[in-house]
Amino acid sequence: MAGDLVLITGITGFLSAHVLDAALTAPQQYRVRGTLRSASKKEALLARLTPAQRERVQLVEVKDTATCDLTEALKDVKYVAHVASPYQLNVEDAERDLLKPAIEGTLNLLRYAAKSSTVERVAVTSSFAAVTDFSKGGPNRPGYTYTAEDWNPSTFDDAVKMGGAGAFSYSVSKKLAEQALYDFVQKEKPNFTAAAFNPPMIYGATLQPGVNASNLNTSSKTVYGLISGAEAMPENRLPLFCNAQDVAQAHVAYFAIPSPPKTRRYLLSGPEPYTWELAVGQIAEDHPELKSRLPKGWESVAITDPSQLEGKYATLDTSLAQKELGIEFKNWSTTLKETLTSLLSLEESSDWKA
Ligand SMILES: *[C@@H]1O[C@H](CO)[C@@H](O)[C@H](O)[C@H]1NC(C)=O
Ligand SMILES: *[C@@H]1O[C@H](CO)[C@@H](O)[C@H](O)[C@H]1NC(C)=O
Ligand SMILES: *[C@@H]1O[C@H](CO)[C@@H](O)[C@H](O)[C@H]1NC(C)=O
Ligand SMILES: *[C@@H]1O[C@H](CO)[C@@H](O)[C@H](O)[C@H]1NC(C)=O
Repeated sequence: MAGDLVLITGITGFLSAHVLDAALTAPQQYRVRGTLRSASKKEALLARLTPAQRERVQLVEVKDTATCDLTEALKDVKYVAHVASPYQLNVEDAERDLLKPAIEGTLNLLRYAAKSSTVERVAVTSSFAAVTDFSKGGPNRPGYTYTAEDWNPSTFDDAVKMGGAGAFSYSVSKKLAEQALYDFVQKEKPNFTAAAFNPPMIYGATLQPGVNASNLNTSSKTVYGLISGAEAMPENRLPLFCNAQDVAQAHVAYFAIPSPPKTRRYLLSGPEPYTWELAVGQIAEDHPELKSRLPKGWESVAITDPSQLEGKYATLDTSLAQKELGIEFKNWSTTLKETLTSLLSLEESSDWKA
């Protein structure tokens, strides 16, 4: 018997590739329908899968999740993983380029899902950005534990006022899109339950189709930057992470838990913080051949023991994801290895650099 149908929005993205893998390897034998903006990446996306997996995957073109009619895309779908979200850090107009697309992208999907007679659960990728309070230090709050009760206090107007300041508008867009989800469920009382997933920086293998040195995701790009002979160490912006497979696993595990409440918010995070000083220490230890590619001056700042960072940053309460979704979060050392191994292998491919 064919498995239940899972819709993954924006299937060509960095995280969606992991959500696809989690759905295809789940014991439920899910079938997957992925939306993509243009058919040009179809072949590359399927090429990574086994023939048996390919038979369980359909790809449909949806130009814009925020405005398109999604009736066909949602036909027969039982579970939705809404992963697509605009992520640009250099926007001209915060309202037009980030806030509206993120909020409308979520709402448009929810409206069509509510009209469908088959959708039972909707998983939405949110972010630690929707949780953190930058005015109190964000991740730099030693001893503080963020829980599902915490909300980024910034508003739509704050983001509009800041204009094109990307990272700030992005964080507000994630918060507003997530709030739109809870408001929708409360007001419209749809037949599905919904959950949001809030990870900090996501690291892991780069699997998305069409990837090369010039279009790497932010997180992979920074790790690749560590072995690109940089003049200086990168800045530690968000020293909290979650492994991409764990984030993906959480979305897919949600589809199978017994009787979820109407809404849920799952904070996701690796068990400890990381810094670039720790990362270069670990790379030098695991890959002595890469030492000459590390940023200038790395020797004098490198550390190798993660416990040196204990108590220096905020932590996230991930107990709900552990208990309800069964996620055992991977540590930084494993996550860095997975990220780096995949980048080193991509580097060998012919279309990596022009
Ligand atoms: C939602 O569930 C109710 C009760 O089972 C049913 O009557 C209604 O048709 C469902 N709505 C849709 C859109 O399927
Ligand atoms: C990853 O990068 C690609 C290409 O730059 C982009 O389209 C996509 O939205 C990014 N995804 C995430 C999760 O950052
Ligand atoms: C990280 O996890 C791996 C796999 O479980 C384990 O072998 C390793 O010792 C852990 N590393 C640290 C620093 O905790
Ligand atoms: C990288 O991929 C983009 C499309 O995703 C393409 O426009 C660009 O030419 C590629 N660069 C190289 C160096 O292959």
